Amino acid sequence: MRAVAVVPNARDIRIVEHAPAHLNADDEVRVRSLEVGLCGTDEEIASFVYGSPPAGSDYLVIGHEGLGEVVETGAEVSRFKPGDLVVPSVRRPCGHPDCCPCQSGRQDFCETGDFTECGIKMRHGFLAEFYTERDIFLTPVPSELRDVGVLIEPLTVAEKALEQVWKIQERLPWCRSENASTPGEGLRAVVLGAGPVGLLGAMALLSRGFETWVYSRSPKPNPKAELAESLGARYVSSKTTPPEELAEQMGKIDLIYEAAGSEKAAFELLPVLGTNGIAVLTGIPGPKPPVELDADQIMRRLVLRNQVVLGTVNADIQDFQRAADDLSHFSRRWPEALRSLITGRHPMDSARELLLGEHDGIKNVIALA
Ligand code: BGC
Ligand code: ZN
Repeated sequence: MRAVAVVPNARDIRIVEHAPAHLNADDEVRVRSLEVGLCGTDEEIASFVYGSPPAGSDYLVIGHEGLGEVVETGAEVSRFKPGDLVVPSVRRPCGHPDCCPCQSGRQDFCETGDFTECGIKMRHGFLAEFYTERDIFLTPVPSELRDVGVLIEPLTVAEKALEQVWKIQERLPWCRSENASTPGEGLRAVVLGAGPVGLLGAMALLSRGFETWVYSRSPKPNPKAELAESLGARYVSSKTTPPEELAEQMGKIDLIYEAAGSEKAAFELLPVLGTNGIAVLTGIPGPKPPVELDADQIMRRLVLRNQVVLGTVNADIQDFQRAADDLSHFSRRWPEALRSLITGRHPMDSARELLLGEHDGIKNVIALA
């Protein structure tokens, strides 16, 4: 069967003939791949600065933002039947008996670093016609989400981040809203970056009641700004408005949600984080020369304002379930905006060009069926 793979030794990315997927255990599910989203991580893998093939393979099948359809289930699988839509999670546990997070199903917090990631680190991904997966790593997706379900994996970034934010900000119980469905009410968040992770994060924040601002490079008017504003967020360009001016316009900033992958932009925004605020970093910047920072000022503010800077990677299966639930909610509240995040659907043969070339748009997706 056909799959898209990177071949690091040949410094190549191409369609390979990959062994067909068969069920090997009773808890496995065979999945037909319907759509696979591409992101910055895939671009880095395609330029060989990130990722690695499974042991013994000279290539890595890429693709970690999957949406598929169940075609066959093992004897022990009761949660799924053929025809069901599913999204696979990305990370698999390290297997060390003393790695408490992995042993507890929280490989997103793996302590040994020996976890694997489908389509990224030592495990084949989902950009193949079929794949098999253990049922515990699959999340059911309602059939109404067929056209947007591929956004679930990028949305899990925000789901995990927000879970962490609530846990940490429990330290500030005094001003909390009584109404649990809008825990962000009365709070202000700025989303740094207007790519898929940023805009999905903005939806997640808005749906929890945050006053949400999207802060990104491109000056207005531009399609991402229009999209952000159609959600009910405000959009400000960092090209025309420096962080201090943004803070003057916004008022106290309770949360920074970084989704731009730019260390410079993130640390330039940090000085405007409000007292007791939290900055969540989700981007993984590529290797670059060091940037100069006003470290004493950053440290002074962190201490004198009780601030938290939090890094977050990968997501737990519960975050996938939350993302599926949230996506249903978003698709009712913002049907057009949600669909317009997917700006291109392309055949498998276009993957190489999409990953190596310049392209605009928001989320590019490979459609296999
Ligand atoms: C994926 C995560 C993964 C991270 C680091 C991201 O693009 O969405 O699942 O943990 O890359 O490899
Ligand atoms: Zn990704």
